[in-house]
Amino acid sequence: MSGANGETDHLGPADDGLRAGQPVAPYFDAVLAYGLRGSGRFHVPGHKGGLGADPALRHALGERAFALDVPQDIHGIDLGPSPTPFEQAEALAARAHGARRTFFLTNGATQGNHALTLALAPMGARVVAQRNSHTSIVDGLVLSGGVPTFVPPEVDDALGMAHGVTPDRLRAALEQGVGQGPGFRAAFVVSPTYYGLCADVAGLAEVAHAAGVPLVVDQSWGPHFGFHPDLPKSALQLGADAVLTSTHKIAGSLTQSAMLHVGHSGRIDPGQLARVLRLLRSTSPSSLLMASLDAARRQLAVHGEALLHETLAAVHRTRAKLATTPGVAVLGPELVGRPGIADWDPLRIVLDVRATGRSGYQVAEALRAAYDGNVELATAATVVLVVGVAESAVALERVAGDLDETVKRIALTGDDGLGPVVRPPAAPPAETVVPPREAFLGAAERVPVEEAVGRVSCESIAGYPPGIPALLPGERVSAEVLAYLRAIRDGGARLHGASDPELRTIHVLRAD
Ligand SMILES: Cc1ncc(COP(=O)(O)O)c(C=O)c1O
Repeated sequence: MSGANGETDHLGPADDGLRAGQPVAPYFDAVLAYGLRGSGRFHVPGHKGGLGADPALRHALGERAFALDVPQDIHGIDLGPSPTPFEQAEALAARAHGARRTFFLTNGATQGNHALTLALAPMGARVVAQRNSHTSIVDGLVLSGGVPTFVPPEVDDALGMAHGVTPDRLRAALEQGVGQGPGFRAAFVVSPTYYGLCADVAGLAEVAHAAGVPLVVDQSWGPHFGFHPDLPKSALQLGADAVLTSTHKIAGSLTQSAMLHVGHSGRIDPGQLARVLRLLRSTSPSSLLMASLDAARRQLAVHGEALLHETLAAVHRTRAKLATTPGVAVLGPELVGRPGIADWDPLRIVLDVRATGRSGYQVAEALRAAYDGNVELATAATVVLVVGVAESAVALERVAGDLDETVKRIALTGDDGLGPVVRPPAAPPAETVVPPREAFLGAAERVPVEEAVGRVSCESIAGYPPGIPALLPGERVSAEVLAYLRAIRDGGARLHGASDPELRTIHVLRAD
């Protein structure tokens, strides 16, 4: 495949020709060579390749981890003739993902959202953003001063699950900008969701482009998309202009490492992103994190399809086993076609446990207590397992058996006189009064929550899991949102971002 401008397109599974060049990992190799050849290390970090580190820590992490922990600006790694090994590594990642430019991130996809909002939503600029975006989008708008118009996702009330934004809803939101001063600068959406359900990205791109704005897709949960024919296509393949992949979430890199990809459309200037990333980046980014991205890219590009082939086969066996557990429904392909759902990711095993008479929180806790099985997410209605690109088939088989036993042991039947789990209400719609930056950085006071109704929130509060903000800085506090937050807290969720996790008090903008 070849992109419109002659640059390479995405490294799809059938593109053996494009695998050429991918078996190397230039940055990782350069760090490895420097770390192990005994170079004079008269620079940071102070552990000097491990000798200066606490012996127990050195023993636990291994000497080699310290040897490879090197600073920025080392000749032959990221200094010297261009392209340096670091530049080569980012270029190889761009080629593998079908991007014009890829940036390695060492503060997660969070850093990517901060960069994208700073670059595309500067002070006063208007953007459309999915209301249930990850908190890093609104945090980025606090940093940048951009002004969001929120577009609601589709919501499944019965499952308490938010899906993607539909093209129609995006169009309606973008039309609000027409004739109201300067138009929107960009549209930010999420696909896939925490539940692995994908939005109609091609349709969203068409709508955004027709309105003259770039489409940014937070594909944090889909770094593996496009690397196997049975997986969803990546958002870049479907026409997005910039895409985030949280490589550490599903592929093989270290926690906190992620990538930001800019597409070939020319709607987003990589130079502008490079400028804001300099602002957000430590001057001492971790070589271990970046080397892990280089190596994870190699693994995904070269062996991803084969690894995924085996993992998908194991996932299908696990899903089939779990489908026989009484009271458990394994969600997935049957949801495709509902509003906001155009595809699904088999690497997320989503269990609807309502018919067990137990909540997802209870099932997850019982699994943990009995089998030390720890899941990614539990909600009132669901339990969600995250599967990695190269998951252990044995581990998958075991968790299916453990879950089966757990559910059979704790399920409440009709004879127990208890109906299905009472689910919390859906988050009520919120009214935005001032931009997030003004509320977050404005003069605040802490008040008892009862007195906060009608005031403007300075806090971003999300029930975690699943981490969808119910209240954002700049939104009016309503009695309904407080009731919702109390209900999900009582159901077992933590109130992420709340200055008082018990929700007795809250920061609001001072009235004077
Ligand atoms: C949709 C989405 N975007 C961004 C992030 C942030 O990713 P990271 O933890 O890599 O910073 C998350 C984290 O869960 C997420 O779910």
